Amino acid sequence: MAFDDLYQEIILDHYRNPHNFGEIQRSCTIVEEDNPTCGDQIKLSLWVDENKTIQDIKFSGQGCAISIASASIMTETVKGKTTNEAREIADTIITTMRGEGEPDVLDEYGDLIALKGVIQFPARVKCATLAWHALEEALQKAETGE
Ligand code: FES
Repeated sequence: MAFDDLYQEIILDHYRNPHNFGEIQRSCTIVEEDNPTCGDQIKLSLWVDENKTIQDIKFSGQGCAISIASASIMTETVKGKTTNEAREIADTIITTMRGEGEPDVLDEYGDLIALKGVIQFPARVKCATLAWHALEEALQKAETGE
């Protein structure tokens, strides 16, 4: 199977069956982020415990296959991580998607490898980073209350 087909299959799989879709049913941090170029929006709820570990994270909203798949993969990737680890991963992903990093770094993060196929389509990069910007915002809000 060609790499592009593999990436597409992973994206469609997460789009059709998004992981961690919904809202956390307890007090938590909630943020909404939209892609101004299309109006698509995702809502993120994040529960960070007293040890700064992400106990739960869920998302909802509307978006294209890439934005929904990226959000689904994002929640899978950072659940159970500390806020610092999650922030580092978000920074790596956003930098790489902007074409400023080495794409092979995505190989280390499971299904995130599928986003490698998006880098060659600059118009879709905002779709792929929407959830990651929401995560950055939620982490900031969880830690500072702002
Ligand atoms: Fe709207 Fe992709 S087209 S997020």
